[in-house]
Amino acid sequence: MTRELKGRSILVTGASRGIGRRVAERLARLGANLIVTARSSEELDSLVASIRAAGGRAEAVAADLTDPLQRRLVVASAVEQYGVLDVLMNCAGIASFGEFATSTPDIFRRVMEVNFFVPAELIRECQPHLVASAAAGRQPAVLNLASICGRAGIPSLPEHCASKHALVGLTEALRAEFARYDIDVLLVLPGLVKSDDLNRHLIRNEGKVYLDFEGAQPPDEVADAVVRSLTHNTRERAVGFVSWWLWFGRRAWPRGVRWIMRRKADKWAARHK
Ligand SMILES: NC(=O)c1ccc[n+]([C@@H]2O[C@H](COP(=O)([O-])OP(=O)(O)OC[C@H]3O[C@@H](n4cnc5c(N)ncnc54)[C@H](OP(=O)(O)O)[C@@H]3O)[C@@H](O)[C@H]2O)c1
Repeated sequence: MTRELKGRSILVTGASRGIGRRVAERLARLGANLIVTARSSEELDSLVASIRAAGGRAEAVAADLTDPLQRRLVVASAVEQYGVLDVLMNCAGIASFGEFATSTPDIFRRVMEVNFFVPAELIRECQPHLVASAAAGRQPAVLNLASICGRAGIPSLPEHCASKHALVGLTEALRAEFARYDIDVLLVLPGLVKSDDLNRHLIRNEGKVYLDFEGAQPPDEVADAVVRSLTHNTRERAVGFVSWWLWFGRRAWPRGVRWIMRRKADKWAARHK
């Protein structure tokens, strides 16, 4: 099955920068009617202006999605604007890079809130509208942008891994539940991506394993893969070589991958005794 995006009403979270912004730009070029959301209203306004200048349709609703009332307002705005909601793209996310022993309960809860409860509660809020979209034969979908951290445990990213594993589990459960409504639930798992602004993406940057943030995958490539997953209705996609390798390696060679992860963590510990 391929999904038609022209004229579809799509809500994109995390659209102020990074992967979410690039996803929104691509969806607009394909003729989708967008509601874009994030907290930074200026960045959203510049995105909407550039989409409209190119002949696309987009509305911005600035919101802190950890607030239930603001979440409700975003979804209501999408439905009010276009009369229907066909696709929810959960792209908003944060990360914490650092060891569990030196982290805090507050960091853990913030990461779980943005990466897990926000997409989960947005899905709940959107579900009746997606059912209506299905009844009208408009091929509704939820796409969750998780991470390979949702399939593999990576040292120095404990909160991130926990939040993305939770999102992957929810995605799989809902995929089965929503099938009877004809709502597709899709999952994309990028590896390390070069952030537009690492200091805003990471709420903590003290990790003790080597991660090549500068040489990471360009967000444009990830955005292309996200849009391809939506148009081709791909249930699960690991994006980039490292992500694919980990995704495949964990199935084919789980002991080997555990050994590599342990070695990664031990190497730094030995160096910084
Ligand atoms: N970067 C990576 O290495 C990587 C790897 C794998 C997966 N991912 C996932 O891909 C997604 C996008 O990552 P990215 O690299 O594009 O990150 P990014 O550039 O930091 O963008 C994150 C987006 O989420 C929004 N956001 C954060 N907290 C929010 C809140 N409380 N309410 C509403 N919006 C909020 C941000 O907007 P405001 O700050 O304006 O609110 C921003 O638009 C995330 O889910 C991330 O976990 C990233």
